[in-house]
Amino acid sequence: MNRLLKIQDKMLEKIKEFENVNIKRDYPLNWEKVHMISCAHIGKLLAIKRGVDMELAAIACLVHDYGRLVTGKQDNHAANGYEPLKELLMEEDTFTEEEVELIAQSARNHSNKNDIGSPLEEVVKDADVLDCYLYNIQLSREEQRDRLYKVWEELKLGNNYPFNL
Ligand SMILES: [Fe+2]
Repeated sequence: MNRLLKIQDKMLEKIKEFENVNIKRDYPLNWEKVHMISCAHIGKLLAIKRGVDMELAAIACLVHDYGRLVTGKQDNHAANGYEPLKELLMEEDTFTEEEVELIAQSARNHSNKNDIGSPLEEVVKDADVLDCYLYNIQLSREEQRDRLYKVWEELKLGNNYPFNL
């Protein structure tokens, strides 16, 4: 099985485990499931366009909200995902230490939408805002909307930019 499918299976298993854990979640587990998969697709397309490693990009997008999955909370979910994510990725004998670090870092930094990070991090941040937009999730922060605007331009999506966000 390829690495993307492998880690996707692992994430789906984790979500199943969390279905039995009674904590109040800021976002439902069904959203976590849908968002991780659609982000992976968007991330892969952005990576192809930008010449970024597309497998790593898809995987980094898939797991970027792991912190929220584990804690149930949106607050600090990016930073909270860093260590648990490294553990998760190292459980499989699939990733090198360097890859684990790159993926975990892109998750840790994905909420800093103001900062420009590594090309991999940029793919994760942009895929995140674009996916939220596509699901009509309000982009409440200006830096998220700025990002959406830039990625919209980059992908030449035309003049129907959603200014009413
Ligand atoms: Fe996200």
